[in-house]
Amino acid sequence: MSSDALAVYLAAQGFEKELADELCRKGVSIKASKERLFLASGLTDSVWAQNIWLEPSFTPVRSVGEAVRTLKSVQRNWKAHPVGFYRRAAVIESQLPPVKARPLRFGEPAPVSPLGAWTLWDHDLLLASPKCSSAFPDGEVRFEEDRLNPPSRAYLKLWEAFTLAGCFPAAGELCLDMGAAPGGWTWVLARLGASVFSIDKSPLAPNVASMHGVDACLGSGFGLEPETAGRVDWFFSDMACYPERLLTVVQKWLDAGAAKNFVCTIKLQGETRHDIVEAFSGLPGSKVIHLFCNKHELTWINLEKWRLNCL
Ligand SMILES: C[S@@+](CC[C@H](N)C(=O)[O-])C[C@H]1O[C@@H](n2cnc3c(N)ncnc32)[C@H](O)[C@@H]1O
Repeated sequence: MSSDALAVYLAAQGFEKELADELCRKGVSIKASKERLFLASGLTDSVWAQNIWLEPSFTPVRSVGEAVRTLKSVQRNWKAHPVGFYRRAAVIESQLPPVKARPLRFGEPAPVSPLGAWTLWDHDLLLASPKCSSAFPDGEVRFEEDRLNPPSRAYLKLWEAFTLAGCFPAAGELCLDMGAAPGGWTWVLARLGASVFSIDKSPLAPNVASMHGVDACLGSGFGLEPETAGRVDWFFSDMACYPERLLTVVQKWLDAGAAKNFVCTIKLQGETRHDIVEAFSGLPGSKVIHLFCNKHELTWINLEKWRLNCL
């Protein structure tokens, strides 16, 4: 963590308390907050921030024109995040070049063009950062959705996780999908050409169960031992279960070296258990993120290529 650098953290929608608690636990000092924006001294990775403004600075602006000139003099692409003075912010925004935020078609890479973010912190005070942690406006990853084929909207979690990680299972790779029903994740994996072994106490939707490469088993994911299952390329879990239980399972698969890559949903209930989240983050080569489409849950991603890069 960079100790005195100023940063602005945009909390994931509805998770302002989680972000504030997380920053506090990481020793980041929050100077002020407005709506979902937290102005803080200290730059750190954050699970609950949907976007981080990496190089924010304040500029007094006496007029709309001055705000527009200030922003344009730095770069072309800016995303407004108003937290007050909404009409003034809208006028400024209308005079900046439009930022096209077309939903991604799954398989397209994440954008790479730098996208800044700004707000009017006060009537005559611009707060702007030319660099942000996410290249998506406000960190919101949107897709052209498929409303016909997947049996649940959970497929968006995998689309987002794969797009952010920049990789996904190759055709023919073996995937274990725990807590698979009704089958959104299995549908994504089978469409990629992977071989999928799906486990759930409930059955898959028939259109997914019949897909090429899908093998389904009715039962509990906790009953499957890595020694008996054998090695898999990808371990997925979207099981509705306590985070501690998931941690025990993935630790077992990691220790056995039985899965190369992991993407798992950490389902949180009631008061958020930051200690459990930190335990997942602490597993070597791990990232814990709050996907734009995650609700009160997080996504733990642990990829072989990251682990190798960590060594
Ligand atoms: C959020 S849903 C999964 C959605 C799924 N990933 C999809 O894309 O459609 C959670 C699932 O976890 C399953 N589940 C809960 N406990 C489980 C266990 N011990 N073993 C296997 N599945 C479990 C539930 O039956 C439920 O279908």
